[in-house]
Amino acid sequence: MTTTVHDLELPEVDVLTLDRKAVLDAMDEARAQHWLARTPLGYAVMNHSDVTALLRDRRFQSALSLLPSMVGVEGPIRDRQQRSILAMEGDEHNRLRRLASPAFTPKATDRLRPFMRQVINDLVDAVAPNGCCEFVTDICEPYPIPIICELLGAPKQDWKLFSAWATDIFRMFNNDIANDQPAIEVAMTELDQYVIAMIDERRRRPADDLLSRLIEVEEAGDRMTTDELTMMTAAVLMAGTDTTRNQLACAVTLFSQHPDQWRALADDPGLAPQAVEEAMRRLGTVRSTLRVTAEDIEYRKVSFPAGTLVMVSLAAANHDPRLWADPYSFDITRPPSGSPQMTFGSGIHYCLGASLARAELQEALPILARRMPNLGLTGPIQWKPPTVGIWGPQLLPISFDAAHR
Ligand code: HEM
Repeated sequence: MTTTVHDLELPEVDVLTLDRKAVLDAMDEARAQHWLARTPLGYAVMNHSDVTALLRDRRFQSALSLLPSMVGVEGPIRDRQQRSILAMEGDEHNRLRRLASPAFTPKATDRLRPFMRQVINDLVDAVAPNGCCEFVTDICEPYPIPIICELLGAPKQDWKLFSAWATDIFRMFNNDIANDQPAIEVAMTELDQYVIAMIDERRRRPADDLLSRLIEVEEAGDRMTTDELTMMTAAVLMAGTDTTRNQLACAVTLFSQHPDQWRALADDPGLAPQAVEEAMRRLGTVRSTLRVTAEDIEYRKVSFPAGTLVMVSLAAANHDPRLWADPYSFDITRPPSGSPQMTFGSGIHYCLGASLARAELQEALPILARRMPNLGLTGPIQWKPPTVGIWGPQLLPISFDAAHR
C-alpha cells in the first residue's frame, strides 16, 4: 500500500538555521529512522542510492526556476533564471545538452591545464614573500575568472569586466534584492551585449575557444540560436566561477586541518585526482539541490503529489556510511568506494563543467601543497551563512613557508 508523503511521520531537520555539521548529524540521526526527512525546504532524501535515483528520475524536475521567487526575485532577473539550462526540462533541455556537451569533454578542457598552472602560480607568487594571506580573497576569488574567460575566448584586458559582472549578478543571492536589483540588471544587460558582440565576431572569424565550438556545433541541421548561446555563456560564467572558488577554499580548509595529507599531496602530485574527489565528498560546496514533482508519482511505495518539493542532500549522500567507512574522516588515499561523490549532482542536470572544474582543482591543489608547505591557520575561519547555495569559507587566514615555483 502506498502512503502520501504528507501523511508520513518523519524526522525533522532544520536545514536553514543549523550549521553544516549539525545538519549532517541531524540527517544521520534521521536516516536511522526513515529514508525521508521533513525540512523547511521540502522533504529531504539523504541516502546515496535515493539521491542518485531521484536525480536520474525525470519525473522529479529541477526546482531551480522556483528559487528566484522563493528569495523575492521578480521581473527580468527571474525570467532569465527560468530560461537557464539549469532550470530547463524535457526535450528543450535534452536538445541543448546534446548540442553543448561536446564542448565540455575532458579533451576540450585539458588544453587549458598549462594555463591553469600559470594562473595559480602567479597568484602564489603575489603572496609568497609575505608567507601569509587571506586565502579566499587572494587565491580563490581571482582563480576561476581568467580560466572561464580563456575558455570562452575573451581577451585578457576584459577579465575584470567579467569579474565585476559575476559579482553583481551573484548579488541575487544576498537577500537584499530591493537594493541590489538595479546593479544586477545592469550587469546582466552588459554581459549579454558583450557576448552578442563576441558571437558576431566568432561567426565571422572562428577561433579555438568554447564560443566558436558552441557556434559550430551542429546536429542534424540544428544549431544554437544567439539567445541560447548568450544564455549558455552566462550559465558558464555563473555556474563555473563561484562553485570552483568555494570548492578550492573548502579543500584547503580540510588540508589546513590535516597537515599529513597536505605533505602527502606535495610529495606525490599524482594523488591530485583522488584528493579532489575526497575533498569534494568530505566538504562539497554544493550541499543540496531542489527537485519538484511534475505529476503525482510513486517512489519507494510513497506517493508524492504533483508540486511536492524535494531537497536532494548531496552532502548527506557523500557521508553515507554504507559506501564510505568512517565517512567523516578525510583521507586522500582512501580506497575507491565504487560510487561517485555527489557534489557534481547526477542525471540529466549533472554538472556540465565537471571536467573543467576537476582540472582546475587537480592543477591548483598540488601546486599549492608544494609551494605552501607547513600550512597553518592564523585566525578563525569565517563561514558563509548556512542558507547560501554555494557555500564555503568567507575568510580563511593562513600562513605557510613559501617555496619557489
Ligand atoms: C567545483 C565546482 C563545481 C561544482 C561543485 C558544480 C556543481 C554542479 C551541480 C551540483 C550541478 C547540478 C545542479 C542540479 O542538478 O540541480 C551543476 C550543473 C551545472 N554546472 Fe556545475 N559545478 C561546478 C563547476 C562548474 C563549472 C566550472 C562550469 C562551467 C564551465 C559548470 C557549469 C554547469 C552547468 C552549465 C550546469 C547545468 C547543467 C544542466 O542543467 O544540464 N559547473 N553543477
